[in-house]
Amino acid sequence: MKRIGMLTSGGDCQALNATMRGVVKSLYHALDEVEIYGFEDGYKGLIYSKFRMLTEADFSGILTKGGTILGTSRQPFKLMRVPGADGVDKVEAMKHTYHKLKLDCLVVLGGNGTQKTANLLREEGLNVVSLPKTIDNDIYGTEMTFGFQSAVDIATSAIDCIHTTAASHGRVFIVEVMGHKVGWLTLHAGIAGGADVILIPEIPYDINKVVKAIEKRSKSGKRFTILAVAEGAISKEDAALSKKEYKEKVRNRMHPTVSYEIAAQIQEKTGQEVRVTVPGHTQRGGDPCPYDRVLATRLGAAAAQMILDKEYGYMASVVNGEISKTKLSDVAGTLKMVDPESSIIKETKLLGISFGDE
Ligand code: F6P
Repeated sequence: MKRIGMLTSGGDCQALNATMRGVVKSLYHALDEVEIYGFEDGYKGLIYSKFRMLTEADFSGILTKGGTILGTSRQPFKLMRVPGADGVDKVEAMKHTYHKLKLDCLVVLGGNGTQKTANLLREEGLNVVSLPKTIDNDIYGTEMTFGFQSAVDIATSAIDCIHTTAASHGRVFIVEVMGHKVGWLTLHAGIAGGADVILIPEIPYDINKVVKAIEKRSKSGKRFTILAVAEGAISKEDAALSKKEYKEKVRNRMHPTVSYEIAAQIQEKTGQEVRVTVPGHTQRGGDPCPYDRVLATRLGAAAAQMILDKEYGYMASVVNGEISKTKLSDVAGTLKMVDPESSIIKETKLLGISFGDE
């Protein structure tokens, strides 16, 4: 008999349900008796003891469904030790719920902040197994996160659609891609969608180099240019600022996002018409793509195996292309960023695609 707590935390993504199904199906297959306690809306459910008991049937038919049947919310890691207005000590409350329900293990699905809290709970003595969720693909200790490939598909479709209208009008188009502080999603969707310029946070851009790339295309007779710009893209000048100065600058920016600022600069410097498209949260919505369904199923099974083997304190991961496990203590607190010297960047540059840096 195993008593398992489960929660999904942080921004949602495709394949959360598929991953939970992978865990639960594997546990039911291996054990005669399993009790699953599904906490509602992420860590909030664990803090305030809001849960429902789930059976195998609850996880049936959800392989292909986006979102999360448990609901989710953001519980900033920084505030985990800070009592809220209700005076609740969140860490103690989570431990209390865990022990009250006599759980054998807590299964946590989430991104970077979620992994940090999972590691904190591990340090506090709870048995924790985690799974890497995010469209950003920025979790350290795994080559791939579930949700990423589905988001690449959506962002790529957005760029594909822009291609036809950009070509008809002869305009410059910016497609702003999610990804928080990293450029994985923009890089992959940019390449897959045939963008001419790709701007990512890891490679600060020089607006004059961006303009040069656009003008080079115009001179060679190309009627349009498409830029895939990460929501976290940053200019060389801004990258030289301190964190505090940069935050202040962003707060006072007259444009809603970096893409609109770049658009205004391009329009002013080239005289060309520029339009901005922001697919936004559509990139996190809809159903998981087949790649993510497979990855989610495999990671879910790996997490179940850890529970069966009582190997706690790990995140199910992908290492060297194989399903593996990474210590939560190694995962927590480190971002996986795009290496500007990596071969994918070099190959992309060989095609003449500009990153706005040279
Ligand atoms: O981490 C996933 C993500 O979609 C990021 O790409 C994006 O920056 C952020 O979440 C948006 O968060 P929210 O849904 O809270 O606005």
